[in-house]
Amino acid sequence: MTTVLKLDEKHYRSPAHAPSKPLIELRGVTKSYRSAQGMMQALRPLDFDIREQEFVAIVGPSGCGKSTLLKMVAGLEGISSGTMMLSGQPIRGPQKNVGIVFQSAVLLAWRNVLDNILLQAEMRHMPKREAREKAMNLIGMAGLTGFEEKYPWQLSGGMQQRVSICRALLHDPSVLLMDEPFGALDAMTRENMNMELQRIWLESKKTVLLITHSIPEAVFLSDRVLVMSERPGSIAAIYDIDLPRPRPLEVMATPAFLHYTKTIRAHFNAQGSLDDH
Ligand SMILES: Nc1ncnc2c1ncn2[C@@H]1O[C@H](COP(=O)(O)OP(=O)(O)OP(=O)(O)O)[C@@H](O)[C@H]1O
Ligand SMILES: [Mg+2]
Repeated sequence: MTTVLKLDEKHYRSPAHAPSKPLIELRGVTKSYRSAQGMMQALRPLDFDIREQEFVAIVGPSGCGKSTLLKMVAGLEGISSGTMMLSGQPIRGPQKNVGIVFQSAVLLAWRNVLDNILLQAEMRHMPKREAREKAMNLIGMAGLTGFEEKYPWQLSGGMQQRVSICRALLHDPSVLLMDEPFGALDAMTRENMNMELQRIWLESKKTVLLITHSIPEAVFLSDRVLVMSERPGSIAAIYDIDLPRPRPLEVMATPAFLHYTKTIRAHFNAQGSLDDH
């Protein structure tokens, strides 16, 4: 039996954001894949809401269905049963109002920073002038001013990932979906990226759903951390992270922070399937 900790208005304490209405709603959402051996259940019934402007991280063992869940929110994968809503509308087919960042930056080598970001505008037929203006603003926000004309090979891994975050935000989506965006970065760059992402999120006021294998990263960035069980995945627990924002990196050494990471890590001790950092 899976315990889902339902957090009502009373228990919701997000220091940076007042309680807001649900943006993403899942009710009894399941996912099964057809395989040579028959139907394989990837996700057991999921019930949870993500509120507007909330930062939610998902942690869980490999293969528990995290990427599947993210793809379903983006409308790139259909659900097998239940209902899934975004802004009060059922999610059917690819959603326009989301931006996605994957583990690798997926930049085009022959395009410079600005043109890689503008790819989003071309795909969505956005007016050119407006798109360029937005791209320049995002470049500033991501600390990439002066690098507009540089090519991906001239950038560090962290900078490349910032370019892909800018690209995901260009069309001003209300939801930013991130699937292990910093998994390939070294520990120090990753910490810097966590700071950057916190700043970008505080400035852009997006709703963020982040998948990560790093428990400290999840706690550092999130209003809530969803812990998933092993395959077929379900929500094992939801933790409200009550730490004031903006959070400096030093917060990671505080007893409150360590209490959160220890409690969440206890879910995985038997499995040993998450990052050590
Ligand atoms: N397109 C697909 N067809 C069939 N099975 C799939 C498909 N996509 C995912 N699966 C299966 O669904 C389960 C969940 O996969 P998913 O990629 O969502 O896991 P994950 O939690 O993101 O894992 P990881 O942490 O390793 O990235 C796995 O058993 C996987 O093999
Ligand atoms: Mg995955």
